[in-house]
Amino acid sequence: MRAVRLHEVNGPQALRVDEVDRPHPAAGEVLVRLRAGALNHRDLFITRGLYPNIALPASLGSDGAGEVAECGAQVTSVRAGDAVVIDPMLGWGDDPRVWSAKASILGMPHPGTLADYIVVPAGNVYPKPAHLAFEAAAALPLGGLTAYRALVTRGAVARGETVLLTGAGGGVQTFALLFAKALGARVIATTGGAQKCARALALGADVAIDYRADAQWAKSARAAAPEGIALAVDSVGGETFAKMLTAVRPGGRVVTYGGTSGDATLKMFPIFWNHLTICGTSMGSPADFAGMLALVSGERLEPIVDRVFALEEIVAAAQRLERGEQFGKVVVSIA
Ligand SMILES: NC(=O)c1ccc[n+]([C@@H]2O[C@H](COP(=O)([O-])OP(=O)(O)OC[C@H]3O[C@@H](n4cnc5c(N)ncnc54)[C@H](OP(=O)(O)O)[C@@H]3O)[C@@H](O)[C@H]2O)c1
Repeated sequence: MRAVRLHEVNGPQALRVDEVDRPHPAAGEVLVRLRAGALNHRDLFITRGLYPNIALPASLGSDGAGEVAECGAQVTSVRAGDAVVIDPMLGWGDDPRVWSAKASILGMPHPGTLADYIVVPAGNVYPKPAHLAFEAAAALPLGGLTAYRALVTRGAVARGETVLLTGAGGGVQTFALLFAKALGARVIATTGGAQKCARALALGADVAIDYRADAQWAKSARAAAPEGIALAVDSVGGETFAKMLTAVRPGGRVVTYGGTSGDATLKMFPIFWNHLTICGTSMGSPADFAGMLALVSGERLEPIVDRVFALEEIVAAAQRLERGEQFGKVVVSIA
């Protein structure tokens, strides 16, 4: 079977489509014939050596949807032929507040979803939302899970609140935008460029601010929310995170799940004086994954697919993400 693998840490251009042996499901596992996968920023970080414990060759991909091809012994929850999406979070553990020390993610160190087949624990496959094609469903797992936990479980978003989303064109943030609107929040999105602003507005953002053109974007966001920004969700980090804190209203909540642009230097006074709550979050529990799928199915939400590439076009797909040209998820069709 085909699998996208990284043999040397040298950026997206080092990705190759290799022929490898098809795995077999052990007891409690299922073999999934993947129909589509998707990229995450995590995949880029791995190609650049910016991820812990990289073991080469690394088989990449955390997002996938397909059909169950074979069930290992003792699997009763699914049957061959079932259309499924895969939860990429392995071994979350029993504590809903935080993952266990044994938790890991599909696609390095485990073989990833950018392949014809993958073996995963039966508990990690969920029925594909019926209204979604495989390519749209494959966009969901890592980004949808992370956004759901950030916004709902950790951010406790409430109907009628104003939410600030920074870097709204990112794969995860487009889910945060969809979910926040579906849950009745008002959304202020910052994103890079006029075209991305137009897309954010078309997807339901109430206000879109071009952070490239407006150095005072945090001030502009505050001005656009006379009622105050109750919740802000960020993964850009660095100066963006520091500025974002100044936009949130007293008593507001801030959730971070990433630091794409690096670490932040923070002013302490506004944090304690304004009684801000700052929460960290990563991926999500099985309950978060199920909650995310229920929201997507219940509201018939369509993930924002930026572009679909063939598996053989993996280098071009990853380079598009690295250049930040995407709005939404970069999907890989696995025909
Ligand atoms: N902790 C976790 O479990 C977890 C899970 C998923 C992702 N992450 C992390 O979250 C981050 C985003 O992941 P992703 O897969 O959504 O990435 P992505 O699709 O590549 O999106 C990144 C977005 O960040 C924005 N951005 C980048 N540099 C910026 C800057 N200097 N100022 C403002 N915005 C900037 C851009 O937004 P615009 O397009 O709007 O300009 C870009 O689209 C990554 O660091 C990733 O590792 C963490």
